[in-house]
Amino acid sequence: MIQVYCQALEFPYIFNYLVHSFWERAFASLIRKQECGNIYSALRAHSSAVEQPAHNRSVPGSNPGGPTTHSKGEKMEKLETIISFLEKLFPPSLAVSSDPPPLQIKGQDQVKKILVALELNLRVFHQVIEESYDFLYLHHPPIWEPITSFSIDNPWLSMLNELCRRKISVLAHHTNLDSAKGGLAEQWIKILSLEGRAQPIEPHSPREFKVVTFVPPSHREKVLEAIFSSEGGKIGNYEECSFLLSGKGTFRPQAGARPFLGKVGEREKVEEVRIEVNVGEAFLSQVVEAIFASHPYEQPAIDVYPLFSLGDTGLGRIVTLFSNISQKDLEEKLSLVFPFVAYHPDDNSPITYQKIALCPGSGKSLLEKIIQEKPQVFLTGELSHHDIARLNLGGIIYYSIPHEEGERRALREVYYDLKERFKEQGLKVELNFEIEG
Ligand SMILES: [Fe+2]
Repeated sequence: MIQVYCQALEFPYIFNYLVHSFWERAFASLIRKQECGNIYSALRAHSSAVEQPAHNRSVPGSNPGGPTTHSKGEKMEKLETIISFLEKLFPPSLAVSSDPPPLQIKGQDQVKKILVALELNLRVFHQVIEESYDFLYLHHPPIWEPITSFSIDNPWLSMLNELCRRKISVLAHHTNLDSAKGGLAEQWIKILSLEGRAQPIEPHSPREFKVVTFVPPSHREKVLEAIFSSEGGKIGNYEECSFLLSGKGTFRPQAGARPFLGKVGEREKVEEVRIEVNVGEAFLSQVVEAIFASHPYEQPAIDVYPLFSLGDTGLGRIVTLFSNISQKDLEEKLSLVFPFVAYHPDDNSPITYQKIALCPGSGKSLLEKIIQEKPQVFLTGELSHHDIARLNLGGIIYYSIPHEEGERRALREVYYDLKERFKEQGLKVELNFEIEG
């Protein structure tokens, strides 16, 4: 067994090094010299003990262990384009600070096939390799802790190494996928057909700004177009939101100025349109740059005001239903979607519910908020005996949804959305068979 100590290196840089630098060659060289030979063969042997679903035992058209092949004319997309597309949907700024960096492995610059899966395991690994995917999109990041030693006897490290060697990218969106609009929590609401007003249990407080500029009427549309195409003017499910107000502006160009309107030394009073838009922090600089680039004035006035955000993103959701639902009806809905176990308070449980809290995966971090908010029901996974006792003591019914099954079911819905969006770009996106319905 060879162990290469990397204590001086911090994550996630080590895996970027593995792909693009000396370290890849060093690791690959060391590993190739081992008697066990090809890592992939070793993993196949190792995982043969893992029961494979019947439809994965033989993959039509697969080319196990060999070079990847793609039919001619298959569309390719830049890695950075795909990452920025996914990050617009599920901004990393929504992630909790303890999440690792989302790009866990940076592979080749061009991507042909994307696989969506909950996490990296041997079954997912096999599917990636045998079906020649070059981009793996996950919810659970495979790399959490700094690696202090490297061994081919460790199946997890071997998988990561093989993905690096094959230049297969791994992007993991963890709590940002939980928190985002259209993320896992909102997918549960959709799957369970819970109709009501939904609010995050723990709202994320993104910084949002009001951006204001003043343009001559002749350039109103050009500047608006530049703002909208730079992600300005988005509010909830609406885009291209702006407020336009006509008025008059004054200025006196000084010596050295090259004014679009008027003459040096003379006060001008001109017709202008005040444009107001909301802009998220992530897009603020690009919107301001777009205004500068499209504005006819030598020195445009651009005002940026911070806004207090009510927030529609964050961990978990509390749904206040438009119509109450009976315990029987809720449990019927649940039984159609996932397995569950109900933990009721000893007495006085309501037989109809109006306020339902939910959090796919583990809702343990939301326990205090839940007890404060007092929903009648909390749907989540991985609460301890004592957590459940506290909920029940507060009169809250706990429905325990298995962590993986609950998240896989929600991820399936996210995948359907992604597939439609990627189809427009001609890219192939598939779902890991563990998530398929
Ligand atoms: Fe999870």
